[in-house]
Amino acid sequence: MSNVCEYIPGLENIPAAKSSISYVDGQEGILEYRGIPIKELAEKGSFLECAYLLIWDKLPTKDELEAFETEILYHRRIKYRIRDMMKCFPETGHPMDALQTSAAALGLFYSRRALDNPEYISQAVVRLLAKIPTMVAAFHQMRRGNDPVQPNDSLGYAANFLYMLTERKPDPLAAKIFDVCLTLHAEHTMNASTFSAMVTASTLTDPYAVVASAVGTLAGPLHGGANEEVLKMLEEIGSVENVRPYIENCVANKLKIMGFGHRVYKVKDPRATILQSLAEQLFEQTGRDDYYQIALEVEKVVEELLGQKGIYANVDFYSGLVYRKLGIPSDLFTPIFAIARVAGWLAHWKEQLAVNRIFRPTQVYVGSHNSPYIPIENRVQTEVNGH
Ligand code: SDX
Repeated sequence: MSNVCEYIPGLENIPAAKSSISYVDGQEGILEYRGIPIKELAEKGSFLECAYLLIWDKLPTKDELEAFETEILYHRRIKYRIRDMMKCFPETGHPMDALQTSAAALGLFYSRRALDNPEYISQAVVRLLAKIPTMVAAFHQMRRGNDPVQPNDSLGYAANFLYMLTERKPDPLAAKIFDVCLTLHAEHTMNASTFSAMVTASTLTDPYAVVASAVGTLAGPLHGGANEEVLKMLEEIGSVENVRPYIENCVANKLKIMGFGHRVYKVKDPRATILQSLAEQLFEQTGRDDYYQIALEVEKVVEELLGQKGIYANVDFYSGLVYRKLGIPSDLFTPIFAIARVAGWLAHWKEQLAVNRIFRPTQVYVGSHNSPYIPIENRVQTEVNGH
């Protein structure tokens, strides 16, 4: 077979799978989970209901949902050895690194891999959905010198996470808004972390390794890590008056403006629209703050200067403002994205297993051939990668 093929940087527009999990129309700003518009799910559903829908390909009945929630509630606790391992992590380490390590460590405890056993699959789904939030909250408590706060059985998934972070029961509006945020982040077709999860899954390794690879991929500032960077940017801008010169400088110097642009959306991300309205709801209750005013101005100026290039606010632009208003520290924004996206990763893992073929793309080789082996005494020192 000929070795000549076209190289597409970033695999733009190259399908990596056939999938029925979610759908995005980037021109119309449409996102659907299993065919259901995201707005419907955000308004009427819950995160765990969406997770069930994504993973098991149907909306659960009342009994099925209750059974799923009960199973997850039962598995929320983490083993004391995982907790002890996490206690040794440096408190200055990033929570995404802590999460990636802890997710991989779960595989040490549940190592009996049986990918052809439906019971194993559903147990792994429940364990990962149940324990990831507990691990994020436990690291946060322990880095501050506290014992982890044990999960509270009287609280639902979203409320319990906020409780484990603060040791206070959140008010119902905060819990509801946080649950909607999880729904909005649960799944998004063939994004980088999902692709990473699928490549790992295709080797038939265990689901804990699948999730750990995906967490590592989500962490970068071009992907899930952008939500934390947005807050840093708003802080750096500091005032509404500084917005225009700041953005103009970014555009003039081709610097990326965090929380804007998307490989697929060429209009405003529908999740950003919903997150903005959630932020508005919170501000109605607690009063607007400077960050929100700066954010609105940033969006206006970016649209004016870059809108014709199809660069609009993405999911990461408004999520940080909501989390900040809920009192969540900014380095937990991306771990929260991961808590939600576990649902999508697991749905793709399951879908991949059903039709698996190992991912093994090709490359366009641009190096030399038949090069001479130079004896070490004859080699000349040259600069390699700046060293
Ligand atoms: C997520 O894929 C998903 O679905 C991801 C996600 C999910 O739910 O899983 O939606 C979550 O990752 C959201 C994206 C978060 N990242 C950021 O907000 C970081 C800032 N945005 C970008 O760096 C960028 O827009 C990406 C990474 C999101 C998309 O990158 P692409 O598709 O490779 O686009 P590109 O970098 O090649 O840019 C194309 C053009 C360039 O201009 P030209 O050189 O053609 O003149 O658009 C410009 C870029 O300079 N551009 C931006 C910009 N994003 C693109 N210019 C200024 N600011 C930006 N943010």
